[in-house]
Amino acid sequence: MVRRMSVKPTVLKLGGSVITDKEKPLTPNLKAIERLAGEISRAKVSPLILVHGGGSFGHPIAERYDIAGGYADPSQILGFSQTHLAMTLLNSWVMEALISHNIAAVEVHPSSCAVTKAGRIANMELEPLKKMLKLGFVPVLYGDAVLDSEKGFAILSGDQLVSSLAIALGASRIIMGADVDGLYTADPKADSSAQLISHLTLEELKSLKHRIEGSKATDVTGGMLGKMHEVKLAIENDIETVIVNATKPLRVYKALKGEKVTGTIIEKG
Ligand code: IPE
Repeated sequence: MVRRMSVKPTVLKLGGSVITDKEKPLTPNLKAIERLAGEISRAKVSPLILVHGGGSFGHPIAERYDIAGGYADPSQILGFSQTHLAMTLLNSWVMEALISHNIAAVEVHPSSCAVTKAGRIANMELEPLKKMLKLGFVPVLYGDAVLDSEKGFAILSGDQLVSSLAIALGASRIIMGADVDGLYTADPKADSSAQLISHLTLEELKSLKHRIEGSKATDVTGGMLGKMHEVKLAIENDIETVIVNATKPLRVYKALKGEKVTGTIIEKG
């Protein structure tokens, strides 16, 4: 008998800076991966889709060969392969930890099932994912090098996968596990008066995004701007999003359980 998927899925992203050592190439943060696998296992949220980032696995190689810029030179082809390989290596560490915590995780390689157009997902095979969720599996995807109908190839970020899958699969919730506590009123590293924003509406998010875009803080926000863009798309589709610090114990657990947690909740409002 096939179980019916009556509850809407939750999508959880584990940022690359959380699960890898950003300073050392190709180095997983095994302590963090192990702890997070334990938290996910204990929370027992189902249906659940997991997406992880690249950190020190995907980014350095992708940058060296300018994979995100698209195909310009045959020498990049091997770089595409190396970027994808690095991501599968990181993914293996994540898979091993999840499965050893009795999570029925199955990896889904974006490069094999998604095609982008100018960097945005244009085509993605969702049937295996839907069937996995129905049977109680936890599909695990990751930011990857993918084929692109305009540029030859591109980098599909984990954040874009999160919003796109959440929308396509009718998710109720997104949890973004980042390496910061959430969104701040200003750059917390440069401004001591910066305060964590615990709750935001879509309108407030748009004006905050606008402010950050116009400031020099873009770099120090550590890719927060791109994250905010993806989050905005999900919230426009009425999917509540929580940003929590996944480097701190129990934040992801509490967010998964729907408990009160330090972080930023964004709702359509
Ligand atoms: C990047 O994925 C993947 C590659 C560079 C191949 P993400 O953009 O989701 O990774 P993080 O979370 O920022 O490290």
